[in-house]
Amino acid sequence: MIAIGSDHGGYALKQEVIKHLEKKGIEYQDFGCYNEDSCDYPVYAKLVTKEITEGNCEKGILICGTGIGISIAANKVPGIRAALCTDCFCAEATRQHNDANVLCLGGRVVGAGLALKIVDTFLDTPFSNDERHMRRICLIEQ
Ligand code: RB5
Repeated sequence: MIAIGSDHGGYALKQEVIKHLEKKGIEYQDFGCYNEDSCDYPVYAKLVTKEITEGNCEKGILICGTGIGISIAANKVPGIRAALCTDCFCAEATRQHNDANVLCLGGRVVGAGLALKIVDTFLDTPFSNDERHMRRICLIEQ
């Protein structure tokens, strides 16, 4: 189960991502926002990351205008490794090396075509399980 959320700046791209997940038969839960009225990205970062830390969802996708604010907010939560990605190389590397559990996107930065490829790459790439990467991830939480 994927938890997804956005503020107004990410709303339009979130709708594209949702359509894409539905087409692929990937289960998701949308934690808002539900229209383009101005709202506060930390609210949605908190809702989505809570689902992950409580074990209800395995990964999350968070979208704001730049992807920056919502990734800063998400990374305040212990156990969350949120990666702002603007290309597929980073999406693949952050899964392999960082075991990132949240993908952040900028709705005003990347077009839908690229964003959906980034989503696929993020969701399809497993963590490497390499000892050095596990060690570094553990160091983040200390
Ligand atoms: C909203 O205008 C914008 O500030 C927000 O979506 C995001 O880009 C913040 O980092």
